[in-house]
Amino acid sequence: MLNFDHYNPTKIVFGKNTIERLPELISQNTTGKKIMLVYGLGSIHKNGIYNQVVKALANFELIEFAGIEANPEYDTCMRAAKLAKSEQVDFMLAVGGGSVIDAVKLIVNAVYYEGEPWEVLTNMPGKSFTKALPFGTVLTIPATGSESNTGSVINRAELKEKRAFGGVLNFPKFSILDPTVMASLPKKQLINGVIDAFTHTTEQYITYPSTNFLQERQAEAILSTLIEVGPKLINDPSDYELASNVMWCANNALNGHLRLGVPTDWATHMIGHELTALLGVDHAVSLAIVGPRLWENQLNSKVDKLAQYGSRVWGLNGGVMEIAQQAIKKTEEFFQLLGVDNKLDNYISKNTLSKIEIADLISKRFIERNWLALGENKLITPEIVHQIIMAC
Ligand code: NZQ
Ligand code: ZN
Repeated sequence: MLNFDHYNPTKIVFGKNTIERLPELISQNTTGKKIMLVYGLGSIHKNGIYNQVVKALANFELIEFAGIEANPEYDTCMRAAKLAKSEQVDFMLAVGGGSVIDAVKLIVNAVYYEGEPWEVLTNMPGKSFTKALPFGTVLTIPATGSESNTGSVINRAELKEKRAFGGVLNFPKFSILDPTVMASLPKKQLINGVIDAFTHTTEQYITYPSTNFLQERQAEAILSTLIEVGPKLINDPSDYELASNVMWCANNALNGHLRLGVPTDWATHMIGHELTALLGVDHAVSLAIVGPRLWENQLNSKVDKLAQYGSRVWGLNGGVMEIAQQAIKKTEEFFQLLGVDNKLDNYISKNTLSKIEIADLISKRFIERNWLALGENKLITPEIVHQIIMAC
């Protein structure tokens, strides 16, 4: 088993009627009364979550910032940080999905940062966040695990770039996971959630066989549960038990456990973020496009683990190479059964870059960023990235 450190201080409050516990949870983390409520483009007004939150916070002073976009925009976050600073808020509450939570992670750091926070997101030497406002979350869409981790992914449309940053200051103090909020999710978002959680698991599992048997089985448990429950939930998002299972799977897929003592890949995400930045495709769609092609490209180095996955998760029989190839096919069929179109050509039009231009640009960016050897075996060079995109 590889060495690891594990630290995750975020308190998870899971279940029905948990939004009403906001006053208790906030008071455990600040004596202040000025709360900044940050949310997206308005779904929480339509589905009643906004009313539940505002009712629970009746004894606090609320400052609101609405308008965080899906794939949160850097400039929007900077406007929110300016407001938080001028209002001297004590605590921030993100009510939304990965986009709102990721945005809040940047906002709470930007409030105290002297300079241009983009410097930190682009890893400028010597630049880092050192202080942040405390924050909590009310999760409204299970997908990213952002409610339980330190990751944050921020888009900058003017540069057509999407960059990620992390750090312990990004841990939410608490996250409320009430599966009843999922009843209002559009089908597309449910599909995205299942695929994102599935891919977070495979990024930390489809590598080479490790000796952390517990983590391997936990990854297989998440994948098997998503395969069993995901399609049923998409047909009936108001089923509480199905919703609970997907919400808990998505949280466990990226709360930091699966990576412990095992090799990880993450190249599907790194390429996927570029497709979102260049073409605007949803995050999960980008993963469904790239994932199976990356596995095909890396078949020789991933064959043993793909075969383990095919055998344990899909119940496939046969030779190692045969099971591995069938496992890729099964995964792609699962994405398609959920209802996602995972052919890159279908997202390219005469108004976008062509496939070869996209592949050229992304591999060039990876060279500029010194991302020269990705994946668990460091075999995914910018040239391989080019090949993978051309096969998408
Ligand atoms: O903006 P509103 O009106 O709220 O609508 C949202 C949004 O349009 C809607 N929605 C959310 N909850 C709803 C709802 N609609 C009805 N009922 C509800 N209960 O859903 C849409 C998508 O929301 P978004 O937050 O963008 O989705 P998701 O959670 O999938 O987040 C995607 C973002 O997270 C990043 C992605 O790159 C992307 O920017 N990621 C963050 C990660 C992390 N922090 O660890 C890891 C991931 O790999 C990912 O990169
Ligand atoms: Zn993801």
